[in-house]
Amino acid sequence: MADLKTKYLGLELKNPLVASASPLSRKVETAVALEEAGVSAIVMYSLFEEQIIQEGLKLDRDLSRGIETYAEALDFFPQTGDYSIGPEKYLDHLARVKLAVNIPVIGSLNGVTPGGWVEYAQKIESAGADAVELNLYYLATDPATPSSELEAMYVELVNLIRNQVQIPLAVKLSPFITSLPNFAKQLVEAGADGLVLFNRFYQPDFDLEELVVTPNLVLSNSNELRLPLRWIAILFGQVQTDYALTSGIHTNEDMVKALMAGASVTMVASEFLQNGIERAAKILTDTETWLDEHEYDSVAQMIGSMSQKSVEQPAEFERANYVKVLNSY
Ligand SMILES: Cc1cc2nc3c(=O)[nH]c(=O)nc-3n(C[C@H](O)[C@H](O)[C@H](O)COP(=O)(O)O)c2cc1C
Repeated sequence: MADLKTKYLGLELKNPLVASASPLSRKVETAVALEEAGVSAIVMYSLFEEQIIQEGLKLDRDLSRGIETYAEALDFFPQTGDYSIGPEKYLDHLARVKLAVNIPVIGSLNGVTPGGWVEYAQKIESAGADAVELNLYYLATDPATPSSELEAMYVELVNLIRNQVQIPLAVKLSPFITSLPNFAKQLVEAGADGLVLFNRFYQPDFDLEELVVTPNLVLSNSNELRLPLRWIAILFGQVQTDYALTSGIHTNEDMVKALMAGASVTMVASEFLQNGIERAAKILTDTETWLDEHEYDSVAQMIGSMSQKSVEQPAEFERANYVKVLNSY
């Protein structure tokens, strides 16, 4: 049997199949079910700083209006009298998940203010997380903000958090970065131990009857794998860090491709939400079979074997291939 072990963020993992941040970590039972199905680590759903702020503001409104939720609101009112109520539930839950499973648990954070990012990263560390994933989900909509300013802010933020927490740090990126290799290099220099490619931005839709904008959450399919696949293949060997591929992993073949591109781990959300947590066991046995049939002894041996640096046709990843592909249609 091929050896599926891999290393990610300094964590020794029994295989490269990690549960991506999703509602599946909202319950201890589903986290346990993920472990039983074979995943090697769990990334928790994100703690969002604006939820914390909003909860605080709502509480303030409810209390000052003296409405019927008063008694209920009082139950939640913190002893300190400030607004620091939001993260406690998340942190308690993280600690309970950590107690219930034997695999590493990675906290996930989406902050707003630099102070918030640092404070909650520290709290996630104190709650017992084995690592923290920084979910950089910011949509630039202001024409006055240049990309260089935003990128510098992110890099500074990673550096700030790196100096305040001891556990490993991963950064989950969006694909909408103009010079991704340079940005990736800066993040790693600032202290990121790993990069997670890519976050999926949920695209709003229009309801033409009601004339309102509607949120639209569509789960992924395997075609979406190709965007992170290309970028990990390009970055691997150029920017030395651990890569996690998220978006479009549904089968053992998707996983093998991701590893060959250079990912140390693959992260799965949509497949488990769509077809059940037990898919993890099937993906893992199929991967083992695939490795055996193709005479691979280990996962370690295949990581990066199809990265841009390793393939015979490196231009296939680049612009040169564009004209060829268009002409071949
Ligand atoms: C319902 C749902 C909730 C999610 N919540 C989070 C989250 O809290 N934090 C985060 O970083 N990513 C979140 N994601 C993104 C996933 O972790 C993952 O990166 C993305 O869905 C791509 O992987 P997939 O193709 O396996 O779904 C969520 C995805 C889904 C479908």
